[in-house]
Amino acid sequence: MTTDATPQHGAPDPALAPLLSVRDLRVSFPVRRSGDLPWRAPMQLQAVGGIDFDLMAGETLGIVGESGSGKSTLARALIGLAPASGTARWADGVNLVGLSPRKMMRYRSDIQMIFQDPLASLNPRMTVGQIIAEPLQTHHHGLARDTVKSRVKDLMDRVGLLPNQINRYPHEFSGGQCQRIGIARALIVQPKLIICDEPVSALDVSIQAQVINLLSDLQRDLGLALIFIAHDLAVMKHISDRVLVMYLGRVMELAEAEALYTAPAHPYTQALLSAVPVPDPQIARQKHVVPLRGDLPSPMAPPSGCVFRTRCPRAQALCASERPLLRGSPAHLHACHFPVR
Ligand SMILES: Nc1ncnc2c1ncn2[C@@H]1O[C@H](COP(=O)(O)OP(=O)(O)OP(=O)(O)O)[C@@H](O)[C@H]1O
Ligand SMILES: [Mg+2]
Repeated sequence: MTTDATPQHGAPDPALAPLLSVRDLRVSFPVRRSGDLPWRAPMQLQAVGGIDFDLMAGETLGIVGESGSGKSTLARALIGLAPASGTARWADGVNLVGLSPRKMMRYRSDIQMIFQDPLASLNPRMTVGQIIAEPLQTHHHGLARDTVKSRVKDLMDRVGLLPNQINRYPHEFSGGQCQRIGIARALIVQPKLIICDEPVSALDVSIQAQVINLLSDLQRDLGLALIFIAHDLAVMKHISDRVLVMYLGRVMELAEAEALYTAPAHPYTQALLSAVPVPDPQIARQKHVVPLRGDLPSPMAPPSGCVFRTRCPRAQALCASERPLLRGSPAHLHACHFPVR
């Protein structure tokens, strides 16, 4: 894993326009439970309950949260694959929420996505060369075959694949190599943002570091912005400039990575950090461990006030009656009535 943890970006500079500006983004799904009367309207499951953040060009924003906290739904909403309300304003001022699929196509080369299961996200009947070239043919059809082939080969080289592997099929590659193919496919249309939804969760730990280092190098060399989703903080430590902590569809904390890891403000972040292994046993012994009690409540009946209060060791009466708003400095925001510091 890379040891260079120096953030290249701090809190968004108010003088610069963000690449993506998300405000009050919400996603609900109509769901039925067994035993519901068929003529009754379905209940609403709120997967994303009003998210705000800005993403700057070239920045890496980590998004972390337990399974079911709404990370993938948020990512899918940004590219028009989940039914959202609110705004997700792209650098040109256009709100991506609610765009027709035809209009969204224009932005799909700027915003690419990489998924968790590398092999399942590659078409088994296409060769590596065809897979990597496919987005180019969708977004820039009419390019000469030789141009396409040389761009595919350049990218294969860039992500650490050999040129003579161009005619092989996905099942002939390891998980880590498949993820490299997915990264090359995302890069071929020269995106400004890549959303990586748990890109290394399915890989062996030794391979995880290689793929994270590759993403980090590409981010730096190409000036890409990344949204890097994971469910534990350890994985994203060295790649994120800022980290957004999500719980039951809401932002709990949004801070520069260094500050979030060394001085978390939200009890939920503190609990997530307790689960991060520390290699040095002496430091590990000094670590303040805050175990997370119980399970994530149902998103169909989220707790009143602060959604984390039912599992929070610091919760008081106010937490049940009033939803805490995001507050603090632009470099370190938290949504907690009784922050840790
Ligand atoms: N199409 C859908 N219809 C109904 N509910 C959905 C749908 N997609 C997601 N959900 C629900 O929305 C909530 C958030 O799911 P989501 O997959 O976004 O979480 P996640 O944070 O990505 O979890 P994981 O870490 O397991 O990937 C969950 O309760 C999930 O069951
Ligand atoms: Mg997910």
